[in-house]
Amino acid sequence: MGDEWQATFDFAVTVARKAGEEIRKAGESEIKVSTKSSTVDLVTKTDERVEKIIIGALKDEFGEGNHRFIGEESMAKGQPCILTDQPTWIIDPVDGTTNFVHGFPFVAVSIAFAVNKELEFGVIYSCMEDKMYKARKGKGAFCNDEPIQVSDVKDIKKSIIISEHGTDRSKDKVSKIFSTMKKILCIPVHGLRGSGTAATNMCLVATGAVEAFFEIGIHCWDIAAGAVIVKEAGGVLMDVDGGPFDLMSRRMVSANNETIAERIIKEIERFPVPRDD
Ligand code: IPD
Ligand code: CA
Repeated sequence: MGDEWQATFDFAVTVARKAGEEIRKAGESEIKVSTKSSTVDLVTKTDERVEKIIIGALKDEFGEGNHRFIGEESMAKGQPCILTDQPTWIIDPVDGTTNFVHGFPFVAVSIAFAVNKELEFGVIYSCMEDKMYKARKGKGAFCNDEPIQVSDVKDIKKSIIISEHGTDRSKDKVSKIFSTMKKILCIPVHGLRGSGTAATNMCLVATGAVEAFFEIGIHCWDIAAGAVIVKEAGGVLMDVDGGPFDLMSRRMVSANNETIAERIIKEIERFPVPRDD
């Protein structure tokens, strides 16, 4: 019973690697870009093609009707984003699309699997760096098969914190995001960073390279796999108001420990975002 999902997990790793190879190859030729919710919310033919490849492979392996799928590009085309008790795949085929378009070398495939609304495992393939991050509930987190662990820093003044700007450029939101960053920077912390992919940011928390990553406005497909990886690496997940993490809320703080998470939460200027579901 304990290993019920092992073969499913192993298959997800294989699919993530294949998807990443496709992305790397696609990056070598001309990239066709269009936009989604705003002029800075980019999508490419590769995002759509890789999502089709991933979902197609999973359907071939597990049967057409047995599993549900929440994929970033299928949602963009109007499919409903509802997490039920059914086994459900939560997929971001290309996390870091802006990086991909610009040749900024952090692009990740993010694949998570939930059953009874609980995340069973997460796989993130940072394909330009060839780093395969994976974690199963209760079984630890790994990068290229080596165990990974969050940092043990408890003093925020000895931390590096990641946040991102998202894809909404409305003045009010941008000024809240920058005001939060300014307050955190001036605690002071050792530094602020951002890789341009939420999935990779969470892996950086999980390996101990940074102490925390938070964002308001991310989607469930950006963070589902990372949530398992951070937790299994010994980290914590919270809502930006300090309450329990809610995958569909589009708000998240991931950190190495509660002390760091709660210290950041004190500085976060919140703004409303519609939920994913
Ligand atoms: C984006 C990245 C980025 C985060 C945005 C996401 P995409 O995903 O994860 O780091 O700030 O909120 O939408 O569009 O590259 O798949
Ligand atoms: Ca994404």
